[in-house]
Amino acid sequence: TAPIVLDSDPGIDDAVALQYLLGTGLWDLKAYTTVGGNVPASQTFRNGRALARAFGIDGDVPVHRGAGRPLTRLPYSAAGEFHGAEGLGAERLPDASVPEQTETSAQAMLRLSRQYEGELTVCATGPLTNVALALTEDPDFARRVKHLVFMGGAAEVPGNITPVAEFNAWADPDAVDLVVSSGIRYTMVGLDATHGWRFTKDHLAVLEDAGEGMALTARLMRYYLEAYTEAAGSPLHDPLAVGVCADESFVTAADGTVVVECASELTRGKTVFIPYDSDYPRAYYAESPLVAARTAHRGRVALGTGPRDFTAD
Ligand code: BDR
Ligand code: CA
Repeated sequence: TAPIVLDSDPGIDDAVALQYLLGTGLWDLKAYTTVGGNVPASQTFRNGRALARAFGIDGDVPVHRGAGRPLTRLPYSAAGEFHGAEGLGAERLPDASVPEQTETSAQAMLRLSRQYEGELTVCATGPLTNVALALTEDPDFARRVKHLVFMGGAAEVPGNITPVAEFNAWADPDAVDLVVSSGIRYTMVGLDATHGWRFTKDHLAVLEDAGEGMALTARLMRYYLEAYTEAAGSPLHDPLAVGVCADESFVTAADGTVVVECASELTRGKTVFIPYDSDYPRAYYAESPLVAARTAHRGRVALGTGPRDFTAD
């Protein structure tokens, strides 16, 4: 098994992503780092600890408290409508019984990147604030991390929090900007791919039949399915990012650069994907130092669903 950090803002699909990661048996989860996002940071920390207890890992996997506000902006109002007021649907889980970690999420990531230099995968399913803070503290974090897979952004499709922006990218666009221009090896798993893998009533029926070990997840997913009123079902945003950490064939992806809008409030958090082999930068962005700086770093961006069926997992 390979070392990984899961950085999350639980959040219903974040919770399912955690259970999925544990269930694959592929990973050695070194830390569950939380960040403010779907609900404020104090609540995601509480939820993260409660989930660790519910999934039986609280003795083994430390849970860390993360950034409570975006890098440079005021705190925003969160995404309670899909996740419930406290982030986990209607659940009121018992608090964790282990002592709280004092190391922050960014500090834990930095420590682990030194301990597992060149081996550590980071999977981020919330705003990228913690990852950006780690990079600010020590830019060499970018080189030591093997791969960062983050759920966020929308390359060629509309947004889900504004007409153009996806929630995680909108929540802290400056963090996305810092991360994609840091030189870290990254894969962006945004709405282009997650909207293709939907959780439906049929999936719910399977979960509800699966016994005690799946009961919490079934209740969470019932809430999530009812909150997302789209007929096609609810997108499996965060679990898909976990899947891509192990197998890119859950998505189709291309090399390119992500540039994120940080200046305009109208289009805040809009992620613009510039394919690596396109003429756009040369032809149209020639005068832009911003684009020149960003296109110096190549990333990998999911553009749709892949050949391997994600929901079969
Ligand atoms: C993202 O926003 C959050 O509400 C979900 O947990 C997911 O990480 C989707 O835009
Ligand atoms: Ca999330």
